[in-house]
Amino acid sequence: MSISLDTIVNLSKRRGFVFPSSEIYGGLRSAYDYGPLGTELLRNVKNEWWRSLVQLRPDVVGMDSAIIQSRRVWVASGHEQVFTDPLVECRNCHQRFRQDKLEDPDQCPSCGLRGQFTEPRQFNLMFRTFMGPVEAEENLVYLRPETAQGIFINYENVRRTCRLKLPFGIAQIGKSFRNEITPGQFVFRTREFEQMEMEFFCRPEESSRWFEYWVDHRRQWYLDLGMTEEHLRIRPHSEDELSHYSAATVDVEYLFPWGWDELEGIANRTDFDLRQHAEHSGVDLRYFDEQTGERFFPHVIEPAAGATRTTFAFLIDAYTEEEVNGETRVVLRLHHRLAPYKLAVLPLSKKPELVEPAAKLADALRHHWMLEFDVTQSIGRRYRRQDEIGTPYCVTFDFDSLEDHAVTVRDRDTMLQDRVSMDRLVDYLRDKLEV
Ligand code: GAP
Repeated sequence: MSISLDTIVNLSKRRGFVFPSSEIYGGLRSAYDYGPLGTELLRNVKNEWWRSLVQLRPDVVGMDSAIIQSRRVWVASGHEQVFTDPLVECRNCHQRFRQDKLEDPDQCPSCGLRGQFTEPRQFNLMFRTFMGPVEAEENLVYLRPETAQGIFINYENVRRTCRLKLPFGIAQIGKSFRNEITPGQFVFRTREFEQMEMEFFCRPEESSRWFEYWVDHRRQWYLDLGMTEEHLRIRPHSEDELSHYSAATVDVEYLFPWGWDELEGIANRTDFDLRQHAEHSGVDLRYFDEQTGERFFPHVIEPAAGATRTTFAFLIDAYTEEEVNGETRVVLRLHHRLAPYKLAVLPLSKKPELVEPAAKLADALRHHWMLEFDVTQSIGRRYRRQDEIGTPYCVTFDFDSLEDHAVTVRDRDTMLQDRVSMDRLVDYLRDKLEV
């Protein structure tokens, strides 16, 4: 089913996934705040990534580096010199664009005039600020534009303290900042965003094999979390697209409402970063192989995904509309592990004799899962609301529950209902939810 970007933007705002930032002050272009549901969804995406890349692996550890690092990091990594996009300005309407993203390099997409663009100038994407009270060049620092460098500069700390032997990975999730010339498509490209990156260090001669391994592994992660296979593809970069550090890169792409676009880049960064940091810092970052007595720079395979962008893709992919009894039912068919709430507990009526025991049941279930307790509106409307936010199961407490100590459990996808005794409820739901 093809859906429009507007549909997702409206749903996001209506149900509390994502709000435009600083909205009460008229908004700040391209900045977004995550509401209660969006926060849960984003957190679940990050948790799944962490589980797959760190928790379940004996060869990967996690870390969390500072957003503001020494300026020398970005000189060594090459970002200060080459992390740029070509910027052009229309002389007529003064709008600015990324030249390489223009559909027609001669025509302004804003005012439509031709031949009005200035010569392209290389615009550095890093946000600048100053450390301390004096705004002087020697106090200039950048907000990190990727989490990766925080890993490279800690490579030796982590290797030594965790006694790691090649091959091994170091993973990190966190905020990154890029002063994008043309942010857009909702949360797809923003100036503040979150990344999920892992640097996998290996022997140079094994790097091609590990590159293939991580491409397959990452593709499977999206599929295991329910992403539609036909909406996912792997696209190798051509020579002229490669970043300054990369020997080979593929993009994991998703079929967004506007077409195929990048979700994640998987790059063979060779020994570029460790060599650069060793040279610029004077610290020997070579690996010592105790068995062979060799010293060498490991090579690095990097799966680098956007957490906010991936969350957006899962939201789009889950959105479905179907006809039920002549009405449109909107269902977010999110994988259970990603769903913001796993359950909704719904007393059939507002009468205290139902609301009170249902609230008690909800309190007991809260220890196991995120859930919503909802008393307002008819039961049909409450089911629809839960369908629309992707809640896999609704637990309804009705008048019979007072007698038979059982509740009705409704499945989001099939709409089928089971009567389940309350003393078996946790096991029943665990079997359903924790697969
Ligand atoms: N360390 C390598 C690196 O940062 P990248 O391809 O520039 O590679 C990795 O970024 C991922 O980060 C992208 O695939 C995308 O998902 C996400 N990303 C990059 N820029 C973004 C932006 N402006 N807004 C949202 N996500 C972004």
